[in-house]
Amino acid sequence: MKQKIEKVLAELEELKCKTAKEVEEARVRLLGKKGEITALFDEFRTVDKDMKREFGKTLNELKQKAQEKIESMKENLGGDAAAADSSADLSMPGDPFELGSRHPVSIVRQEIVDIFRKFGYDVAEGPEVEDDYHVFEALNFPPNHPARDMQDTFFVSAGHPNPLLLRTHTSSVQVRAMESMKLPIRVICPGRVFRNEAISARAHCIFHQVEGLYVDENVTFADLKQAILLFAREMFGPDTEIRMRPSYFPFTEPSAEVDVSCNICHGKGCNICKGTGWLEILGCGMVDPNVLEASGIDSKKYSGFAFGMGLERIAMLKWRVNDLRHYFENDMRFLKEFNSSIEV
Ligand code: PHE
Repeated sequence: MKQKIEKVLAELEELKCKTAKEVEEARVRLLGKKGEITALFDEFRTVDKDMKREFGKTLNELKQKAQEKIESMKENLGGDAAAADSSADLSMPGDPFELGSRHPVSIVRQEIVDIFRKFGYDVAEGPEVEDDYHVFEALNFPPNHPARDMQDTFFVSAGHPNPLLLRTHTSSVQVRAMESMKLPIRVICPGRVFRNEAISARAHCIFHQVEGLYVDENVTFADLKQAILLFAREMFGPDTEIRMRPSYFPFTEPSAEVDVSCNICHGKGCNICKGTGWLEILGCGMVDPNVLEASGIDSKKYSGFAFGMGLERIAMLKWRVNDLRHYFENDMRFLKEFNSSIEV
């Protein structure tokens, strides 16, 4: 018996466990129902009375030692459920963490906002679900203008005198700015707009705009032209030229569409500018006096200009993307192309 006790004691001294599983195995081997120490206690019952005194103490000490050692090993290993899973290799490299990138439309919006901030413009935002008044009526759209038609506009509540609808342009934000801001006003309005269009490479039912508005005393068409020229040169390069073509919008008079010289072929003609040397980027004009008056601005004293551009269109020109749908399909292969544009 003495030898057996010494053997177990030596084993206990040597005992080293690396995992919680090994600790548990050792506990079962020593202290379990059929464990070595348990067996010694069984044997102890059969020894002579005078021997009992000799072994009783050492056996109890052995058991206590074994229990303490097992407890302390458990604690050192953390003892929790995670550590119990011996298959986890803690030195293994972690799963790669996919870093997101900014969407090309967000990149272009930020660039445009930064340019106009330098010119002293504030950023204004407004609701995407708007009423007819702010999207059409206050902007001088005649009652039966085709843009109000169900074919172009997504109505939220029809049949109401001032129905709710999804804004078709962010000019509605300019109306809200004129209603609430003190003059002079210099704002740009970036945002999402909605039109009931068939989805194709060149059109989508959701897209993004940045519109701008400047109202003050003595604002002239020359100011408009200069602002657009400066913007185009910041955006597309210092040699960029602009040209204005007469156009029509209900809320501006006179109105113009602006082309920039093609920054790819520099006016020689390529397939991006379809051989013309020019790329159309925005619509603009002098704010119609009716629009100023509708928002309570004295059109005799004040004048202003407005402009609006589609962000997807600018992004398409910038990165030569030929299909608008790429911007909405969340294809990682496309989005990852813009990784390098992340600003940290
Ligand atoms: N609101 C016009 C559009 O959605 C763009 C525009 C804004 C034109 C301001 C002229 C002046 O197409």
